[in-house]
Amino acid sequence: MASITIRNLDDEVKELLRRLAAENDRSMEEQARVMIRAAVDGQIGPVGRIDQIEKTLRELTSAHGAAVPANAPAGKRLQHGLSGKRILLIIGGGIAAYKALDLIRRLRERGAAVRVVMTSAAQEFVTTLSVGALSADHVFADLFDRQDEHDVGHIRLSREADLLVVAPATADLMAKLANGHANDLASTVLIATDKPVLMAPAMNPRMWAHPATRRNRATLQKDGIAFVGPAKGEMAESNEAGEGRMAEPLEIVAAIEALLDVGPKPLSGRKIIVTSGPTHEPIDPVRYIANRSSGKQGHAIAAALARLGADVRLVSGPVGIADPAGVKTIHVERAQEMRDAVEQLLPADAAVFVAAVADWRSENSAGEKIKKVAGEGPPVLRMIENPDILAGIGHHSQRPGLVIGFAAETQDLLRNAEAKLRKKGADFIVANDVSQSSGVGPSGVMGGDRNRVRIVSKSGVEEWPEMSKDEVAARLAALIAERLKTIVV
Ligand code: CTP
Repeated sequence: MASITIRNLDDEVKELLRRLAAENDRSMEEQARVMIRAAVDGQIGPVGRIDQIEKTLRELTSAHGAAVPANAPAGKRLQHGLSGKRILLIIGGGIAAYKALDLIRRLRERGAAVRVVMTSAAQEFVTTLSVGALSADHVFADLFDRQDEHDVGHIRLSREADLLVVAPATADLMAKLANGHANDLASTVLIATDKPVLMAPAMNPRMWAHPATRRNRATLQKDGIAFVGPAKGEMAESNEAGEGRMAEPLEIVAAIEALLDVGPKPLSGRKIIVTSGPTHEPIDPVRYIANRSSGKQGHAIAAALARLGADVRLVSGPVGIADPAGVKTIHVERAQEMRDAVEQLLPADAAVFVAAVADWRSENSAGEKIKKVAGEGPPVLRMIENPDILAGIGHHSQRPGLVIGFAAETQDLLRNAEAKLRKKGADFIVANDVSQSSGVGPSGVMGGDRNRVRIVSKSGVEEWPEMSKDEVAARLAALIAERLKTIVV
């Protein structure tokens, strides 16, 4: 690990460093890193005289070591969204490691303190020197470094953070954590931590698609590890494209803000109703009619809206997933119960109808279990139509300012979605192809973790690329926040 030896600097520079460090309550080494960082950013011009340098440095803001001049363009000015938060960034060995440098910069711009652990493979792609200059802190790389262990120790390193971020998360790092290996500093820190962990995978598309990686990802998700990305697109290697590109630094920052719950709250004070999951329509006390909806998309939307500060009321049919954090959830079984629950929640600022409501129910569900009677053959079920909850609210006297429906189709996606928009009185229809041949994810949309949607409104159709249901939810929540800004209550 290269370090800055203050002793070797000439006296004039040393004296300046000493004064600035004392003023900013930093070590001289840390102050030197801040200055190198400012020079890398071009904030210290080619000035020759020490008093000019001092003047420039004094003009730089001292908060959190992110040196940014007060008159810098808006994008460069300090944004304190992550102020006081401590991020431990683990950089894995992949070509996307260079993006980690930008990630450090973005996090520090927002006021976060960033400490970095690099694997030895990561050091083949970026140097500890550049990482240290950007993070303004010592870079940790060796599990058996006596000095590091004495000063901090890997256990403290893993706990003295609000969040651990692995970017890029290589197939190897994922495999190590999924299987509990701890044979280097990065994997040891990951297994020793009691803090949340976010992984931003980056690897060749074939490696990402390999059953071993899929298995490891599922295990990690079950263990509570959060993921952002990977995205689809061109890979750094020539002639390689597919799913495996690391999420962009700003997407990772958004995921960090969401996990630390420090993001903007544009929906605070807004009440939003969300329906999710299937409905179960009884035939008799033990049998019912249902559909394949898992509730994953609706629950993710409820969670994303809550993260933006909304007072979310989720009306959920029977699902096998947990109630989203920070959301008031009402559990129902049948379409009529779902309709009643939604109506009781009015008035609201917006309503999002994600539930796959059963269109029909058995006219007379039997009070007792229907028995097989020899010679009588199977019973004939007479079906009647369920209430259309979305259409009811879309034309309600207390209609929310913004009404959004979904259209799950297996054919004529856009034509059907446009018809539903008109007929049901919605402002938007989120249309998705739920056919087995949609090509979305390994298991299709229904029950799967991924989705590809089109946003249909009176002003046209917006196509979104395939992404995880969580990402669809985050984008939809942002769209709702944007729209509600223009709706005055
Ligand atoms: N919806 C509803 N109540 C119903 C049926 C549907 O609130 N009884 C809502 C869904 O939550 C979704 C939208 O209407 O937001 C479209 O649902 P979908 O099942 O795609 O359409 P249907 O109206 O049921 O039409 P079809 O099954 O013929 O496609």
